[in-house]
Amino acid sequence: MEIFGHRGAAGTFPENTMISFQEAARVGANGIELDVHMSKDDELIVIHDETVDRTSNAKGFVRDLTYDQIRKMDASYKFKKKYGVCPIPTLNEVLEWAAELPLKVNIELKNNVFEYPYLEMKVIDLIYKLNMKENVILSSFNHNSIMRVLSLDSTIETAILYSWQMFEPWNYAKHLSVKGLHPNYRTLNDIVVQAARSEQLAVRPYTVNDAEVMKKMRDLGCDAVITDYPERGVKLLKSH
Ligand code: G3P
Ligand code: CA
Repeated sequence: MEIFGHRGAAGTFPENTMISFQEAARVGANGIELDVHMSKDDELIVIHDETVDRTSNAKGFVRDLTYDQIRKMDASYKFKKKYGVCPIPTLNEVLEWAAELPLKVNIELKNNVFEYPYLEMKVIDLIYKLNMKENVILSSFNHNSIMRVLSLDSTIETAILYSWQMFEPWNYAKHLSVKGLHPNYRTLNDIVVQAARSEQLAVRPYTVNDAEVMKKMRDLGCDAVITDYPERGVKLLKSH
């Protein structure tokens, strides 16, 4: 089973910042997960919420702010004293860094509240520009967006995110031609995992932080877990 660091190593470092991604890589995670929004001037911004309010020292919707304004913010939020100033990165910055490493990047398109024009095209263009296609997985709760990704490039790896109980999600995923399920781990059971795997679908539940739940996901046969504590996940797998 692989370990993906959720927003980097969000349990111990400021989420979706370079220092958080670097920590996930340092502890030996196989991949990182991050969230992408778009600024007023069409930059791809790595941040979880639609606004900068919760995770930075500023306020406003990402889509109403320019890259220059966002760049000046400090996203260290609750970790402030520990790590100093932590800028909000662009997707370009994170992918350029990850391109030098044996690290997969799960890019979550955060367009389930606001539809950012041409977000899918911009993300795909960047992936090709940085030659990262073999190392990325695009996911979203917005399944229309995933369909747009596949209509632009049917060869890029995609997964559907969902947080509710779905009827036969493996059949739905096959219908959409995605390659993976990224469910809330609470929705998973052996029937779903086995059926998904028999359809060659990768199963990567989120957000699995408890060691006992990590073990359960491994025993169910999940391909990866997405966790705020990648170090915990890596250690657990090494000890078994
Ligand atoms: O991609 C897995 C997970 O990050 C989805 O939920 O709200 O943490 O972005 P959220
Ligand atoms: Ca996410």
